[in-house]
Amino acid sequence: MRPISNVIFYIYVMRIVDQDFEVFIDKETIKKRVEEMAAQINADYQELNPLFLSILNGAFVFTADLFRQITIPAEISFIKLKSYRKMESSGKVKELLGLEHNIFNRNIIIVEDIVDTGKTLSHILEEFGELGAKSIEILTMLHKPEASLKPISLKYVGFRIPNKFVVGYGLDYDGYGRNLPDLYKIVE
Ligand code: IMP
Repeated sequence: MRPISNVIFYIYVMRIVDQDFEVFIDKETIKKRVEEMAAQINADYQELNPLFLSILNGAFVFTADLFRQITIPAEISFIKLKSYRKMESSGKVKELLGLEHNIFNRNIIIVEDIVDTGKTLSHILEEFGELGAKSIEILTMLHKPEASLKPISLKYVGFRIPNKFVVGYGLDYDGYGRNLPDLYKIVE
């Protein structure tokens, strides 16, 4: 009997809590893209002394990798806003915590792990609206354009991805998976 195919696909499936995930963007590809984004920021912000504001928890891995590639004078701080339960955005936005820096007259770069509906960012941008920043730009590792409910201008985007749930490289599923070095997507 002829085999159906002489190509054997090995798919490495990772079980997290009650869902299966497969590798979507591997760590080498992520590393290269992070380096490109950092190089772009180093060029764009040379004399501007940017203040990076990283959104916890999801952006911590991306931020750590990116910030170590920043070679111009820059400061960083971390803020926290909301929790994301299982695979659906709760839609509820919590209070902004941890903004200790005075952002008046500063060039702010907000660092996100992923922009999904855009609700989180639009809330943050509202909060920042009256604090007198000189400029505010968004840097996100991932963007799901199809999920967008709020139009937000994103200056730096690592990867545009389909509207599928992803985990790893700082992103979690129900609290787990943040430590995975690659990015995984849900197996449906
Ligand atoms: P948004 O407010 O809907 O844009 O959601 C932004 C936040 O939801 C992100 O900072 C993540 O914490 C979380 N999120 C959105 N999509 C995913 C996903 O596919 N995997 C894990 N977390 C996600």
